[in-house]
Amino acid sequence: MIFGSLLGIFAKDMGMDLGTANTLIYTKGAGVVLNEPSAVAVQRNNGRPIAVGHEAKKYLGRTSPDIVASRPLKDGVIADFDLARVMIREFISRVRSSVGFLKPRMLIGVPSGVTQVEKRAVIESAEQAGARSVFLIEEPMAAAIGAGLPIHEPTGNMVVDIGGGTTEVAIISLFSTAYSESVRVAGDEANEAIMRYVQHNYQMQIGENTAEHIKISIGSAYPQERPMSMEVNGKDLVKGVPRTITLTDGEVREAISEPVEVILESIQRAFEKTPAELTADIAREGITLAGGGALIRGLDRLISEQLQIRVNLADDPLTSVVLGTGVALQNMKEYRRVFVN
Ligand SMILES: Nc1ncnc2c1ncn2[C@@H]1O[C@H](COP(=O)(O)OP(=O)(O)OP(=O)(O)O)[C@@H](O)[C@H]1O
Ligand SMILES: [Mg+2]
Repeated sequence: MIFGSLLGIFAKDMGMDLGTANTLIYTKGAGVVLNEPSAVAVQRNNGRPIAVGHEAKKYLGRTSPDIVASRPLKDGVIADFDLARVMIREFISRVRSSVGFLKPRMLIGVPSGVTQVEKRAVIESAEQAGARSVFLIEEPMAAAIGAGLPIHEPTGNMVVDIGGGTTEVAIISLFSTAYSESVRVAGDEANEAIMRYVQHNYQMQIGENTAEHIKISIGSAYPQERPMSMEVNGKDLVKGVPRTITLTDGEVREAISEPVEVILESIQRAFEKTPAELTADIAREGITLAGGGALIRGLDRLISEQLQIRVNLADDPLTSVVLGTGVALQNMKEYRRVFVN
């Protein structure tokens, strides 16, 4: 034990939220040391990576003869194994100074209900990227821990993690998951819905980054007190030339109403399938929203009104999962039982 501490083995632990949209890394003592988009840009002819993270995200949707950018994860799971490994290796090397020289032990969040093959892909890509050993934790469990919910108590804690690729609804009690469902509709679907809306109503094409920018700037799930609008640049589909339109918050709300409805229904389903005791706990404490998708304006209010339940937004929804991995790593003895593998 003392020998281990002297070698600094326990300082090398690292928590990772390997998300569809963003990857975050937590290390003991230093906190969140990395927060970057899950994106990789490679040279078109030989596949050599030229940018990872923020730099690579800029290339998404921008076709260039030499460079192609993509996201290694889709719907919460690894879709491109080679790119995922390149990305994880690069991210680990960026935080090397706060990890030390020995290979780190890693705790990584995975969506609830992922297959064995999907888990293997995460473990193998992390090991090949330099991890000494890899533990997994279900993302809603990590989000609940990160949001400070009393998961150790015999009471029902409901957490809804709305990420880029997946929305995960879970009810957690006494360190275990009493109910969970993962639906493959979240923030990315909202972006795609905005792209389709603009294409259909304005015969104009916009990129994914532009759609995300619109969503974050003026998107809402519930009518806002102050009207908002913004100018949007894209490509006219009929004439093939650049064009600018003005979009209003009402239009964006209409555009994203379908994915928002799917999220609402998934929460509704959780209540239908949950025993009365747990439902009563949740009615008392409310549900907690985490993940970047929870930041859509008025989503908390919409859920609250439609389902007649108190809704709490996690302090910093984008970091809940990685903070949860950090807490679990620092209290391994207590939390080891919630690890998946
Ligand atoms: N202020 C904001 N308003 C609305 N949406 C936002 C805001 N900030 C981020 N998002 C959205 O949140 C999503 C990313 O959230 P998050 O980082 O929690 O996802 P992830 O963990 O990478 O994905 P997943 O958990 O599905 O694998 C993106 O779709 C992004 O557009
Ligand atoms: Mg996530």
